[in-house]
Amino acid sequence: MSELYAVILAAGKGTRMKSSKHKVLHPICGKPMIDHIVDHLERLGTSKTILVVGHLKEAVQEHLGDRALFAEQTEQLGTAHAVLQAKPLLAEKEGITLVLNGDTPLFTVETLRSFIEEHKQSGAAATVLTAELEDPTGYGRIVRRFDGSVERIVEHKDATEEERAIREVNTGTFCFDNQKLFSVIEEVKNDNAQGEYYLPDVLSLLQEQGERIAAKVIADENEALGVNDRVQLAQAEAIMRQRILHQHMVNGVTIVDPTNTYIETDVVIGEDTVIEPNTFLRGQTVIGKQCHIGPSADLTDVVVADQTVIKYAVLDQSQVADQSKVGPFTYVRPGSEIGSQTKLGCFVDVKKARIGEGSKISHLAYVGDAEVGKNVNIGCGVITVNYNGIDKNLTKIEDDAFVGCNTNLIAPVTVERGAYIAAGSTITKNVPENALAIARERQTNKLDYASKIMKKIRSKTHK
Ligand code: UD1
Ligand code: CA
Repeated sequence: MSELYAVILAAGKGTRMKSSKHKVLHPICGKPMIDHIVDHLERLGTSKTILVVGHLKEAVQEHLGDRALFAEQTEQLGTAHAVLQAKPLLAEKEGITLVLNGDTPLFTVETLRSFIEEHKQSGAAATVLTAELEDPTGYGRIVRRFDGSVERIVEHKDATEEERAIREVNTGTFCFDNQKLFSVIEEVKNDNAQGEYYLPDVLSLLQEQGERIAAKVIADENEALGVNDRVQLAQAEAIMRQRILHQHMVNGVTIVDPTNTYIETDVVIGEDTVIEPNTFLRGQTVIGKQCHIGPSADLTDVVVADQTVIKYAVLDQSQVADQSKVGPFTYVRPGSEIGSQTKLGCFVDVKKARIGEGSKISHLAYVGDAEVGKNVNIGCGVITVNYNGIDKNLTKIEDDAFVGCNTNLIAPVTVERGAYIAAGSTITKNVPENALAIARERQTNKLDYASKIMKKIRSKTHK
């Protein structure tokens, strides 16, 4: 079996993005462009993946860490010159070298796999992956001979009117016999419109050496999109989003309005779950079976178990167990664990809190840095006073407790099992098991005083 190596080109400035962030670090469906490519290469099992870096190299290197080897291109003199920088890492190797642009993130792993396979079968020294585009503007064109074989690739800027009419383009993805690639790459010249060393010129050089080259046309031309500016970034996002949604629907998820649903790459969703419009599922979010998510749910890195309903809510880095109800208008902040059959209702803000099975926080409450047991009822307007200006303190509410409306729980404090807190209390001390705590001013009723007080007010304001 021949070894597989990969070289990804990512040294260019990406001028057209107009960004202080490196182009390949811009996310598509929640994941930096470069990660989509590196993920695929890991699945293909490359023996070495080399990233050619230059512009903003520190950020790119830091991002990928040990997922790739790095070759530096100090001056961006063109794509052939970029590949040449990988020579010290690859020169002696026997095998296939797959070259990809860092700004073409839409190839599927299946496409790459069959491309490599076809290259192997053909025995060519090089194979280029091509695409037939409706609008080929900006791409290198594939110039074929009368017999259909590839003669050369001409860049848009160097092309004649006639050549510009060609709709078959270079996707920037090539398979090379590694030894043959590096035997000719230094002969590439830069006598062209951009004064750059073009990688596609290697194809002509190999043919001059009597080598055979091949081309494979990609089945779905959408995969060929190169991201050079923000318009293409949005196009790439739309194509990938559609692909992700399609896969979920095939897997048995109902997506009510696919044009209005945003699901990132790594999200997992169980069968018979319904996703309503304006829902965002991000990061490593996992949704169970038969859930109802949305409308307007925004979940990042949240794990939701089966049969839970979440609508008009924002949840972040938390877990929600099965058969719970969250929303409308609920905010679950990082580090929260919401138990089974719980209810978090309107204007409830939960942060770093564990809420036990069957507990209810139905309206207008802040529960932060808290451990709430099972079957607890937290009334309207309850606040865990968790921050004293310096430290965050813990509130513990044990099973079956009842916390009356508008209670302040000044942490650190514990409400023991089955305790009952009267509405309007400000609790500063622990409440023992089964106790009733009342911590508020007693009410005084001054009989027949209402008319007196009105008289007093009138005499002052209507002299
Ligand atoms: C390139 C191809 C073009 C193809 C298109 C597909 C060349 C000369 N042109 O054009 O035929 O249709 O991709 O998307 O190869 N890079 C470096 N160092 C450099 C120059 C570029 O690392 O000196 C990197 C860039 O960061 C980028 C990739 O190579 O990731 C492609 O460069 P870019 O300038 O975007 O080339 P295109 O004009 O898109
Ligand atoms: Ca490009």
